[in-house]
Amino acid sequence: MDFGKNFIWGAATAAYQIEGGAFEDGKGLNIFDTFCQIPNKIDNNDNGNIACDHYHRWKSDIALMKEIGLKAYRFSLSWARILPEGIGKINDKGIEFYNNIIDELLKNDIEPYITLYHWDLPLALDKLGGWRNPEIVRWFSEYAKVVAENFSDRVKYFMTINEPQVIMVNGYQQGVLAPGLNLTVPELLDAAHNLLKAHGAAVVTLRTYAKQSLSIGYAPCGQFNMPLNETPEDIEAARRSMFSFDDPYKSVGSLVWYNDPIIFGKYPENEFALCEKYMPEITDSDMTLISQPIDFLGHNVYWGHMVSSSDGMPEIVSDPGGFKNPPHKWPVTPDCLYWGTKFLYDRYKMPIYITENGKSCLDEISQDGKVHDTERIDYINGYLKGLKKSILEGSDVRGYFQWSLMDNFEWTYGYKDRFGLIYVDYNTQKRILKDSAYRYNEIIRTNGSDL
Ligand code: BGC
Repeated sequence: MDFGKNFIWGAATAAYQIEGGAFEDGKGLNIFDTFCQIPNKIDNNDNGNIACDHYHRWKSDIALMKEIGLKAYRFSLSWARILPEGIGKINDKGIEFYNNIIDELLKNDIEPYITLYHWDLPLALDKLGGWRNPEIVRWFSEYAKVVAENFSDRVKYFMTINEPQVIMVNGYQQGVLAPGLNLTVPELLDAAHNLLKAHGAAVVTLRTYAKQSLSIGYAPCGQFNMPLNETPEDIEAARRSMFSFDDPYKSVGSLVWYNDPIIFGKYPENEFALCEKYMPEITDSDMTLISQPIDFLGHNVYWGHMVSSSDGMPEIVSDPGGFKNPPHKWPVTPDCLYWGTKFLYDRYKMPIYITENGKSCLDEISQDGKVHDTERIDYINGYLKGLKKSILEGSDVRGYFQWSLMDNFEWTYGYKDRFGLIYVDYNTQKRILKDSAYRYNEIIRTNGSDL
């Protein structure tokens, strides 16, 4: 059995992590352009000024995608490259850059999947409060209009926002990513509510100005948890742990805080009760805007917790075992793709795309000039086996995007951490297809039949 004839095999990247060209052709500054200049925020004080130089190498990079056999490519647009001040004047060079990429992808039969926002807020808008300012609903919608008008004649698939959880927790709560804030719970809940409204407004705007019928989703994250034992009690505990939290501090990092309002049109009941006293004023029209119908649910997955039931309540098993790879030290837990997609589909009954999944390794070039990343191959095989099982049991999963197409600027970890199917030598910008890229090619060609 394979994944079904329409299954989409892809790889993903994000603008700030690969493009470089940070100060070229009229691009405006974004919050990472300045955040990375603050000493010791990023490992080795690295930044994305040049990154993979994809801004100049997009054509040969697309040729490599073709060589890997990708059917789809998920990438994000740099908002400040298109609208240097976030709103107002459009930068034609930015539009041209993405037009070139889209045309070249289509020429190579690779379907573009565009993410509007992968964390790189235009600096001009951050100065006005960023996601804390309710005006962001209008700003994001204006940007979505420009995107729809310029790209939707050829691009059908759009995601509004990548990982609201990380935007809020890492950027606004713990301050380890741009813009580096430490907000209180009420301030966070307010910013997250603005973000949800901005998502909804972008959905409406994309559809209003689209030149064809679009397929729209978003790409959240959040634990994909697994039962310790396959007993009904542990299975329910794992499911419950994925869709609930017990402390308002955890709200903006959870999955349900975004998925439930977007899909069901209301915040999750028990969790809302916990947070109610900290919430901003919420109107019915807010919830209508937030829950504009979407076509698919994305989910970024790297690992999950093992969960057991303790008197019906979920208990996280402290050490699920497995290999912990440096420098992320994220455990390798292949079954999370099986359980997580099942739980997700059971709850939301929506088509799912795995919008990111992958593993960082400390890859090196061997004497033979190749990169033998056997750990990554093992990871991909294991996770995809789990995904296949879930699909065969009825979960409607439409596609899978490997994170990442190529090694790139891994946020706090700089360039040390390598997630790519393609190795990038940052001194020369030379690319080498890793062994995992060849294995992925085989999986795509056989539609996963040997998994
Ligand atoms: C993000 C990517 C990031 C990856 C690995 C995801 O949370 O969307 O931008 O590179 O995790 O850390």
